[in-house]
Amino acid sequence: MSRYHETYARWRADPLAFWAEAARDVDWFKPPATVFDPAMGVYGRWFPDGILNTCHNALDRHVAAGRGDQAALIYDSPLADAKRTYTYAEALAETATLAAVLGDLGVRKGDRVIVYMPMIPEAVFAMLACARLGAVHSVVFGGFAARELATRIDDAAPDVILTASCGIEPGRIVAYKPLVDEAIALAAHKPGRVLLFQRPQAKAEMQACRDVDWAGAVASARAEGRRAPCAEVAATDPLYILYTSGTTGQPKGILRDNGGHLVALMWSMRHLYGVKPGETFWAASDIGWVVGHSYIVYGPLALGATGILYEGKPVGTPDAGAYWRVIEEYGVSALFTAPTAFRAIKRDDPQGKLLAGRDLSKFRTLFLAGERADPDTVAWAEALLDRPVIDHWWQTETGWCMVGNPVGLGRLPVKHGSPSVPMPGFEIEILDETGHRAPAGKMGEIAVKLPLPPGAFPSLYKGDARMREAYLSEFPGYYKTSDAGYRDADGYVFVMGRTDDIINVAGHRLSTGAMEEVLSSHRDVAECAVIGVADALKGEVPCAFLVLKAGVNRPHGEIAAEAVALVRDKIGPVAAFRRAVVVPRLPKTRSGKILRGTMKKIADGQPWQAPATIDDPAILGEIAGALGTS
Ligand code: COA
Ligand code: AMP
Repeated sequence: MSRYHETYARWRADPLAFWAEAARDVDWFKPPATVFDPAMGVYGRWFPDGILNTCHNALDRHVAAGRGDQAALIYDSPLADAKRTYTYAEALAETATLAAVLGDLGVRKGDRVIVYMPMIPEAVFAMLACARLGAVHSVVFGGFAARELATRIDDAAPDVILTASCGIEPGRIVAYKPLVDEAIALAAHKPGRVLLFQRPQAKAEMQACRDVDWAGAVASARAEGRRAPCAEVAATDPLYILYTSGTTGQPKGILRDNGGHLVALMWSMRHLYGVKPGETFWAASDIGWVVGHSYIVYGPLALGATGILYEGKPVGTPDAGAYWRVIEEYGVSALFTAPTAFRAIKRDDPQGKLLAGRDLSKFRTLFLAGERADPDTVAWAEALLDRPVIDHWWQTETGWCMVGNPVGLGRLPVKHGSPSVPMPGFEIEILDETGHRAPAGKMGEIAVKLPLPPGAFPSLYKGDARMREAYLSEFPGYYKTSDAGYRDADGYVFVMGRTDDIINVAGHRLSTGAMEEVLSSHRDVAECAVIGVADALKGEVPCAFLVLKAGVNRPHGEIAAEAVALVRDKIGPVAAFRRAVVVPRLPKTRSGKILRGTMKKIADGQPWQAPATIDDPAILGEIAGALGTS
C-alpha cells in the first residue's frame, strides 16, 4: 500500500506543519522559527529566519557524522577516458580549498560567479565552493554560444568566471576559453578574473592580468593548508541563478534560495526517488541544467548518498550499453535521465543485447523527465529492464518534481503517458481560458495554486515585475506553468506540451522566439517563423521558415545554410538547428498572427485544416509544398 494519499492529505491539511517536519532533515545553524511568511517576496518566502549553509549540509555534516570515507562523487568519463572517486572527506578538502582560492579572488557572500564548465569534478567543487562562501553561482551549459554567455554575464554581473580549457564531445574537442574571451568582449559588464582549469585535451591561452591558473592557485592554497569555512546564510539568500529560455531572446534568471531548496531536495530524495543515505543515485544529465543542479550535485550529497558525474552519452561512448556498464560498475540504485536517452538506446540496440551479462541487481528504478515520456519508449524500457519506469514532470522554475509517482512512499500504479499525481506542496489545477477549473478529461492550462512550495523559485533575478507578469498575472492566485494537459478521473495528470513558444529538443529547453530573433538579423530575411517539428530521437527539432526581402535572388540553399550557421554561432550547437526552408509568404490570421500550430501539423504530417480566421488559405499549400509534404 502506498502512503502517498495519506501524505498528500497531511500536507493539504496543514502545509506549515508538513514543511516544518521536513525541515528537520536539514542541519541548520539556527533552525527557522517561522515556516512561511506570506508577506515577504512576490508570493511569500519559506523559512525566513532560518540560518544554514548548503555546502555544510552537502559535505561537512556527513564527514562529521562519520561518512568521510564513503564515496560522495564518482566521475566517469568515457570521453576523457578517465574515472575517479572522491570520498566525502576528499570532496570537502577540494571544495574548501577552492573556496579559499575564490576568496583570494575577491568572491564574497552575495557575489555572483559564472561557472561555464564541462562535466568534470572541478565544476561540482566550484558550485559547492560558491555555496560555501554564500556566493551565488550561475552555471551556463557548455553547448551555448558566446553570445548567450554574454547575455548571462550582463544580467548576473559576476566579477569572477570559472571555466576550463575545453569540453569533449564525441569526435571533437570544444575549446571553451575562446568562447569565454569572446563573451567577455561582447558583454558590457567586464568580469575582472577568470579562473581557468587546463584540461590535458586542449591547453588554453591565458591573458596575463585577468586569467588565473586553477591548478596552480589550488595547489598553493593546499600547500598553505588554507580552507574557507562555511558562511552563515539566511534560508532566503540565493544559492544560485540558473538561466532558462523564456519567450524572448532574453533568458530568465531563475533564482533558487538556500533553505527551501535543501528541504525540498531531501524530501524528494527519500520519498519520491526512494533512495537512502549510502546508496548510489545517478542523474545522467548535465550540471548546466536544473536536473544537474538538483540531482547530480545537491540532492544526493545533502542526503549522504553517492552521486555520479558522467561525461558521456547514452550511445556512441562507446555504444548503447554505456548506461548498463555504469549502473553495474557503481551499483546504481536509481537512474534519472531524459526519455531521449532511452530513445537513442532503443534505436541502437532495440533488442537490448548489450544488457546481457550485466549485473543490475542493485538497480531498482528508472526515472524519466525533461520532456514528455512517450508511452512506446516507457513500455520498451519497462520490458527490457523488468523494473518500474517512472515519468515525472517538473521545470527549471520549480527545482523539483510537481507531478510524479513517489516510490519512496510506495509506488502507485503507472499509467503510460502520465507522470502520475501531484507531489505534496503542489496543488495542481487544469484551468480553461477563463480561469475556471476544467472537468476531468478536458485539456487546459496546467496551473499550481500559490504559494509554490519550498525549493521552487521565489522570483526571477532582478525580475519581480517580470515574474508577476510572466507567471502570476494571467490566473490570479496561481502559478502558470505554460504546459497544457488534463487530469483523468483518478487524479492522474497528463502533460501534453507547451502553450508558449518553448520547444524541447533532446530534453533541452529552447525558445523558438530567440531563434527567430537571430534569423531576423540575417541581411536577406524579411520575416521568419520557427516551429518545433516531431523527431523520433530528440522529441522535437526546430525548423525555420524564411521569407526573403524583395529583390534577393541568391540561391535559397545558400541562404538556408547561412541561417543554420547563424543560429549555431549565436545560440549554440545545443539548439540542434539544421533545417531552414525559404517560402514566399507565411500563413497568418487576418489580424496578422502567424499560424504556427497549423504549420506544425503540416510539418508533422498530421491532418490539418485551414483555420476560419486565415487570411489566405493558399499559403498553407505553399508551406506544404516547401516541406515536401503536400
Ligand atoms: N558542450 C558543447 N557542445 C555540446 C554540449 C556541451 N556540453 N552538449 C551538446 N553539445 C552539442 C553536441 O555536440 C551537438 O553538436 P553537433 O550539432 O555538432 O552534433 C549539439 O550540441 C546537439 O547536442 P544533443 O542535443 O545532445 O545531440 P546529440 O546528437 O549529440 O545527442 C542524445 C543526442 C539523445 C544522445 C543526447 O541529447 C542525450 O544524451 N540526451 C540525454 C538527455 C539529457 O541529457 N537531457 C538533459 C535534461 S534531463
Ligand atoms: P526545463 O525547465 O528545461 O526542465 O523544461 C521544462 C519543460 O519540459 C516543461 O515545462 C515541460 O514542457 C517539459 N517537461 C519536463 N518534464 C516533462 C514530463 N515528464 N512530461 C512532459 N513534459 C515535460
